[in-house]
Amino acid sequence: MDKKNKPLNRRDFIAKGAKLSIAPLALPLIKVNSASAKAAGKQKIAMVGTGVRGYGMWGKPLVDNYSKQLEFVALCDANIKRAEVVRKKMNINVPLYHSRDFTKMINEQKPDTVIVTTTDCFHAPYTKKALELGCNVISEKPLVTDAKQAQEILDTEKKSGKKITTTFNARFGTSSEEIKRVISSGVLGKIISVEFQEYLDVDHGASYFRRWHGKKRYSGSLLVHKASHHFDQINWWIEDDPDVVFANGNVAFYGKNNAFRNRNCRGCPFASKCDFYWDITKDKHMMDMYVSCENEDGYLRDGCVWDNEIDTYDSMTVEVKYKSGILLNYSLNAFMPYEGQSIAFNCERGRLDVRNYFRQPWEVDYAAEFRLTENFKKTKTWTVQRGEGGHGGSDEKLKDLIFLQGKPDPMGQLADSRAGVMSSLIGIAARQAIEKGQPVQIDDLVKFPLTWGW
Ligand SMILES: NC(=O)c1ccc[n+]([C@@H]2O[C@H](COP(=O)([O-])OP(=O)(O)OC[C@H]3O[C@@H](n4cnc5c(N)ncnc54)[C@H](O)[C@@H]3O)[C@@H](O)[C@H]2O)c1
Repeated sequence: MDKKNKPLNRRDFIAKGAKLSIAPLALPLIKVNSASAKAAGKQKIAMVGTGVRGYGMWGKPLVDNYSKQLEFVALCDANIKRAEVVRKKMNINVPLYHSRDFTKMINEQKPDTVIVTTTDCFHAPYTKKALELGCNVISEKPLVTDAKQAQEILDTEKKSGKKITTTFNARFGTSSEEIKRVISSGVLGKIISVEFQEYLDVDHGASYFRRWHGKKRYSGSLLVHKASHHFDQINWWIEDDPDVVFANGNVAFYGKNNAFRNRNCRGCPFASKCDFYWDITKDKHMMDMYVSCENEDGYLRDGCVWDNEIDTYDSMTVEVKYKSGILLNYSLNAFMPYEGQSIAFNCERGRLDVRNYFRQPWEVDYAAEFRLTENFKKTKTWTVQRGEGGHGGSDEKLKDLIFLQGKPDPMGQLADSRAGVMSSLIGIAARQAIEKGQPVQIDDLVKFPLTWGW
């Protein structure tokens, strides 16, 4: 499986991508101490996208726990009211920039690193611009939502000499790490095929269809937004690259599949009979972050899951053939009565079964169950506990690896642009395969740098 010496195709690419609109907008700016951050040798950080993930994963925790290593110098968002709310919640004194002033922000505040936590389809344009302006980038997944963005990001990163980190926290979950350990131990020999079934429940799964995620143009579909986590994990576990992708998908449950609908839950005439009615007014944080900022951009955080315009598949199956011949059979259903994953590796010397449990409607006091069965031997079973912290402790482990200098990464968990692009490309290819009814070859989507190899 060592492909270090196996060159991938390469072709010249001329970036013609979407330019960010940078018309200035007059905003009250607070004088910033970016010079003092430099003097103190701290990494200067600007963040674009001040939603719950920007605030909860990067904003507040970085201020609280990594103040020796870094300092925020600016926040940027298309909704300036939300940026104001977040600046207050982060308790920092930095200037705010409207998204139209992104370039101005970089030129004035000169961050070393830009953290990109916007709506998915804007990760790539901001990443590209930040690289061009001489910054490193830490981007939330998915790094890209279409093939054109993928090519632009790869070419721009190479040209800029700067670095992209894609924040695949799912690699850091306790069961994900355990899978990596078992697979790399070689106990099962060569991997022949992988099965991965993702179950999103009527709470978590439904939440995607209340928000921009339900529209493919923003999220690239759940095949990109959500499944890029899983495709990345699989690529990382088996250390292989995808070759051909085929898929099927339906909007089978949400969207048009109901007799009634409203724009959003607040004031909905069907509230009393809708199982998916969600009262956002009971959640102060959500009210501060979204409802109090609604008049700025009209974004309704409690959108209707029965919206006729929902076009993101809620049920999908994907088949991938990897370069080494490994076959992947993947499925995701977003309307399940319970959450979890069933993952299996079928190998020349046996099979590994993993069942992940999270927020089950029954008692379970561990995160995952492992079953390792070597051919002609008895099955070994064990369980893995969930870690403490965000996403089972994976959020904290990821931040430590990014910001604590000298922290070892023995499993290679820190993901770069290659991992970001490869995982998205499987979802992008799957979406194209569904739309065209034909298999899609990954090498037809993007021309990769010659030097790539695991
Ligand atoms: N790794 C994980 O576990 C994980 C978990 C949650 C979210 N995420 C990722 O984090 C990102 C943000 O998710 P969220 O739940 O906070 O979403 P959100 O909608 O709550 O926040 C997105 C923010 O981006 C802003 N925005 C939208 N378009 C913009 C533009 N063109 N320019 C500047 N700002 C813009 C919005 O106003 C909003 O403040 C998503 O990409 C999502 O995939 C990752």
